[in-house]
Amino acid sequence: MYNFLKSSHSYFAYVAFAAIIIALLIAIFSMINKKSYSGSNLKTAMFGMIACHIQLLFGLVLYFVSPYGFQNLSGETMKDSFSRLLAVEHPFVNILAIIIITIGFNKAKKAMASGTGNKAILIYYGIGLLLLLSRVPWSQWL
Ligand code: HEM
Repeated sequence: MYNFLKSSHSYFAYVAFAAIIIALLIAIFSMINKKSYSGSNLKTAMFGMIACHIQLLFGLVLYFVSPYGFQNLSGETMKDSFSRLLAVEHPFVNILAIIIITIGFNKAKKAMASGTGNKAILIYYGIGLLLLLSRVPWSQWL
């Protein structure tokens, strides 16, 4: 169970990052080419958001199964930067990032008519991506 969840969370991270980066690139190119926000832009952004939500589900279950998650929460954990990253910072910051990405998608959806969806994706997905990248356990992942 633990190994399956860990591998799924580990490999699905590539899908989530790729989907968010593609949504961001499409928004940037549309802005540069002065194209308004279209239905296909929204579909790409939706794929990025759904990928994050699936990753969130894997992460939430993993948190209670992994020896580095809930089981590792203690005063000692806070003194060790790697343990603190996995037990506290990674879950907390990533949930925040996924909330920001979800808000961005809804803003882009509402802005379809006015054509300002690209800006919403650029700002919210951009901030979300930076937050996610800031708390990846790189030494363990790659
Ligand atoms: C889009 C959001 C997320 C991304 C991209 C992501 C990515 C990753 C990556 C790349 C790893 C390292 C995997 C490895 O060692 O091969 C990891 C580990 C982990 N993640 Fe996430 N994660 C996300 C959200 C979450 C959330 C929301 C939680 C918990 C609520 C969580 C809990 C964990 C735990 C506990 C580990 C350590 C697993 C272990 O080594 O036993 N993740 N995550």
